[in-house]
Amino acid sequence: MKPVNAIAYANIALVKYWGKACVNKNIPQTGSLSLTLNAFYTKTTITLSSKDRFVLNGIEQYSDRLNKVISFLSLVRPKGLFCEVVSENFVPTESGLASSASGFAALACAVDKFFKLKLSRQSLSKLACFGSGSASRSIFPGLVLMNSDGYSRKIINTLDLSVVVVECGIGKKVINSRSAMSITSLTSPYHNAWISNHFIDLKSAKQAIVTNDFDKLGKITERSALRMHANLMAADPGLWYFKPLSLKIMSHARKLRNEGLVGYFTLDAGPHVKVICESKNSNIWKVELEKIPDIIQITVSKLGPGAYCEYGN
Ligand code: DP6
Repeated sequence: MKPVNAIAYANIALVKYWGKACVNKNIPQTGSLSLTLNAFYTKTTITLSSKDRFVLNGIEQYSDRLNKVISFLSLVRPKGLFCEVVSENFVPTESGLASSASGFAALACAVDKFFKLKLSRQSLSKLACFGSGSASRSIFPGLVLMNSDGYSRKIINTLDLSVVVVECGIGKKVINSRSAMSITSLTSPYHNAWISNHFIDLKSAKQAIVTNDFDKLGKITERSALRMHANLMAADPGLWYFKPLSLKIMSHARKLRNEGLVGYFTLDAGPHVKVICESKNSNIWKVELEKIPDIIQITVSKLGPGAYCEYGN
């Protein structure tokens, strides 16, 4: 079996997924809506080996990270075969910039070709979901809808969107999203309200896309992020991922919007703030946000392609 190499791009959710219907199968409690980004991606190569290995950014991985990859491989490979998985993340790892999304989408794409599974794109998204819920969406390009069964699909639309990603800190997130999700759903009194309102948000977001209504989609985007973080803060113990700098950027983004620059922020399981805007405004957003001190980096991303294999059998 020849090595297979796959690439998948990170995605940012406009309507978030936070909570699982089934922990063992990693089935989300709700659907979600996202944008696949062309600026952040993972490249993964899979080869046969005498034992399972996972190398990430040149460093051999053990315990949790290796075990997640082994569990994923075990879903699809013939018994008795072992693999070496070598990944390079062009996304800061475990910092809330969706590295698990691009990581498991690339791995799903690679194993599909390596083991000649010949899965449809939809089945590939379902396979990626076993690794990480958000990975299901990175199988597809642009604007993507994931259903609560873990299958995703591309949503046709005519909005020309970009995402301005403002990095507000370095290093690993304070708590991984899987553990935080579990604490939230078990202890937050807001969790049921989050779930029931989520259905309304997703429905309204789909309508906004059909009618090309960027303002409506943006308002839902901000609301979804803030409600997800309110749910986290209401957990016991209360959790939060933002930093003072994240809050400063969110306030500044609102101020700029009130002054006429249209764009809406979101933030995930990490301190980074992402501003969703129409592409015609993305460089103005970058220039304006760069004026805030202490930002690590600002990247303007256009929408990216779905996962694909570069080479292989
Ligand atoms: C805040 O997909 O990382 O980014 O399925 O446990 O791997 P697991 O979780 P993950 O969670 C994504 C959380 C989020 C929101 C979103 O992307 O929808």
